[in-house]
Parts: sequence; structure tokens; C-alpha cells
Amino acid sequence: QLDTQGLEYDGKIRVTYNDMHILIQKTAPRIKAEFNPDLMVAIGGGGFVPARMLRSFLKQGDGEKRRNIPIQAIGLSLYEEVGAFDGTPGLAQEEKLGKEVVRTQWLDLSTLGSKPLIGRRILIVDEVDDSRTTLSYAVAELQKDIDEHLAALTPEQRAATPPTELAIFVVHNKDQPKACSIPSHVRYFAGEDTKPKSWICYPWEQEDILLHDAIALKQKE
Ligand code: G4P
Ligand code: MG
Repeated sequence: QLDTQGLEYDGKIRVTYNDMHILIQKTAPRIKAEFNPDLMVAIGGGGFVPARMLRSFLKQGDGEKRRNIPIQAIGLSLYEEVGAFDGTPGLAQEEKLGKEVVRTQWLDLSTLGSKPLIGRRILIVDEVDDSRTTLSYAVAELQKDIDEHLAALTPEQRAATPPTELAIFVVHNKDQPKACSIPSHVRYFAGEDTKPKSWICYPWEQEDILLHDAIALKQKE
């Protein structure tokens, strides 16, 4: 019996590995029926474990031929672009110019065949949609690559390939105003909506996973 130190009352949402597994399992049939992805792009690090869990419930084909959907890993870092101070009185030392996105890790297309992105149904996976900034950039960056690949095809080839589609799966979506948006043609799946500004504690962040699980258990009482 672990001493949970009253942490069950601190307002944070503690999610166990089993909670993740069950929530993802519950959402998978809808993703399968409404989107049926054939490729996952996991945004690291938070998207990695959810993508792997989801893959177990999205196998393609029947019986002996059932096969796993490939998972590609990407990483994005968002930097505040800062303009140099031009000496104008009354202006701040540095002027914020908005966010710049840097791909810290990107797709390995060499493992995806001759038309690596085109004609695929691509599911972007992350653990949480907070401000939507990361997801919005992920969609935009992937779309750039898709458009580049499409531009390299002849009109005949283009006409002969099925549409390339993007969708998003997040385990938790914070039900709050977002800083960025996602194009309406990109389908969106969330395991669960949480309250605005809620703080979610994920199992993989924990130093003491047994204490984390004990608090989570008490929170469910
Ligand atoms: P967003 O685009 O989804 O809004 O994320 P944003 O960049 O604003 O958030 C920065 C980091 O904060 C992200 O981690 C995001 O996953 C994390 N974060 C946001 N809300 C929560 C929360 O409620 N709980 C936890 N544990 N993390 C949260 P990251 O930089 O992508 O790191 P990584 O863990 O994915 O490597
Ligand atoms: Mg992340």
C-alpha cells in the first residue's frame, strides 16, 4: 500500500498505461471504419507509445495475411523567431516575429516503396492536442512533401493514383480555444476530450510509476 501523499486531489489527470491502452482500443474501430490508415506518422516523443498501441488494433488484411501498418517517426521543434532591435525608441529589445518550425526528425521514405507518400492514407499520431500548434505544423509540413511528390508525377500518373489523405489521432484533446487550426479536409479523431487547461500526467514521464498508478487508482474511486 503506497502513500499517495494526497496527490489525488491536485487536479491533475493521471493516466496509466492501461488507461491509454483501453482508450486507444475504444477509439480504434472508429478510425478503422472512417479512415482506415495504411501509414502512421508518430510525432515524437509523446506520439510514439500511442502509435504502437494503436497499431495492434488496426492490422490490415485477414487471417494469416494480417499485417502491421508501418509507423514513421517525426520530430518538430517550434522556435520563436526574434527580430533584431533596430534602436527605435519605445520598441521592445527584441521583436517577436512568430514561430519557426524546425524538423528535428523526418520521414525515412526509403522504406516505403516507389511512391512513398502518394495515394496513402496517413494517420498523424500524438498524445495530446493542447494549443494545436504542433499538429498544425505537422500537417503543413507533411502536405508540403506530398505536394512536392505529386508535382513530380506526370498528369497521367497523377490521374491514376488514389487521393493522398491525412488524418489526425490524439489520445487526449483539451477542449479549449486553439492557437492554430487544421484544414477541414483533415479528419480528426480524439480518444477523449479533457477540460480546458487540464494537465495530464502520462505514464512514460514518471520516475515512480507505482506511485503514479496508485494515485490514478485513488482518483478513480
Ligand atoms: P501542442 O502543439 O499539442 O499544443 O503542444 P505544445 O507545443 O503547445 O506543447 C509543448 C509540449 O507540452 C508538448 O510536448 C506537449 O506534448 C506538452 N503538453 C501539452 N499539454 C500537456 C499535458 O497536459 N500534459 C503533458 N504531460 N504534456 C503536455 P513535446 O515538446 O512535444 O514533448 P514530447 O513529450 O512529445 O517529446
Ligand atoms: Mg510531443
